[in-house]
Amino acid sequence: MGDAARRWRERQSARGLPEHILRAAPADPWTHDPADFAPPVTPADTPSRTAARALAERAAAWGCGGASLLDVGCGGGDAAFAAAWPEPSPVARIVGVDRQADMLAVFAATARERGIPHTTVPGTWPEAAADAGRHDVVVCHHVLHNVVDLPPFLRALTAAARPAGGVVVEMLPEHPMAWLDPLWARFHDLHRPASATADDAVAVLREELGITPEVHRWERAPRLPHGPAWVARRLCLSDDRVPEVEAALAGIPPRRTDAVTLVWSP
Ligand SMILES: C[S@@+](CC[C@H](N)C(=O)[O-])C[C@H]1O[C@@H](n2cnc3c(N)ncnc32)[C@H](O)[C@@H]1O
Repeated sequence: MGDAARRWRERQSARGLPEHILRAAPADPWTHDPADFAPPVTPADTPSRTAARALAERAAAWGCGGASLLDVGCGGGDAAFAAAWPEPSPVARIVGVDRQADMLAVFAATARERGIPHTTVPGTWPEAAADAGRHDVVVCHHVLHNVVDLPPFLRALTAAARPAGGVVVEMLPEHPMAWLDPLWARFHDLHRPASATADDAVAVLREELGITPEVHRWERAPRLPHGPAWVARRLCLSDDRVPEVEAALAGIPPRRTDAVTLVWSP
């Protein structure tokens, strides 16, 4: 394993929560609520969407039907539907992979509602790659910061994309929960180490796969509900601490809204 992959692994591993905090947590601080990930009726116009549609157009021009798109860690399918919706779109078929079955249910329900041919693959990437198959475009949004061993994850994304298309990864410049680090110190006396960054991910791509992706940096609209009750759960605190969390939130900078899109072809 090279230096960049080791740095990613160390930084991600170091952000795990101590056992005693997890044991005392009133609710699982990690699980995402599918309701927060329902794709919007009108997709946001982002560099990730532009890149996925451009790759799909290029791939569709090579074949006779429209392009197929694989969304890894799809959640409700925000990335897939941004590329495939609204019609007309160069994307003819979408496949969602996620380890949370309730996320796949939102993905499938939305695809049915919009009449988009689709398949869901329950499982964890990269182990689920064999079931997901190869596609013209592979998108993976806001998943890399869940991954510790990045090289096999990125290799499987790349191998899943056909050469006429490519891969689009969207992520935040640092761990999505890094903005709460001052509150971990305040409520648990837990001093979190530096987060893995998007630059670290680019370094792993270069080092392990010999790929230099296009890098787009941009601002996105805040989406998740970051109110005090939501934050208290993330911090493993009970509901009666919500007023304290609310007061503490007023004293820290808000979550960053800049995002990074990485694009490459196999
Ligand atoms: C932050 S959400 C992002 C969802 C969606 N991509 C979006 O941008 O709205 C992360 C999703 O990735 C899934 N996930 C995380 N790691 C995964 C893995 N290794 N394999 C499959 N799914 C994963 C989670 O279950 C969750 O649905």
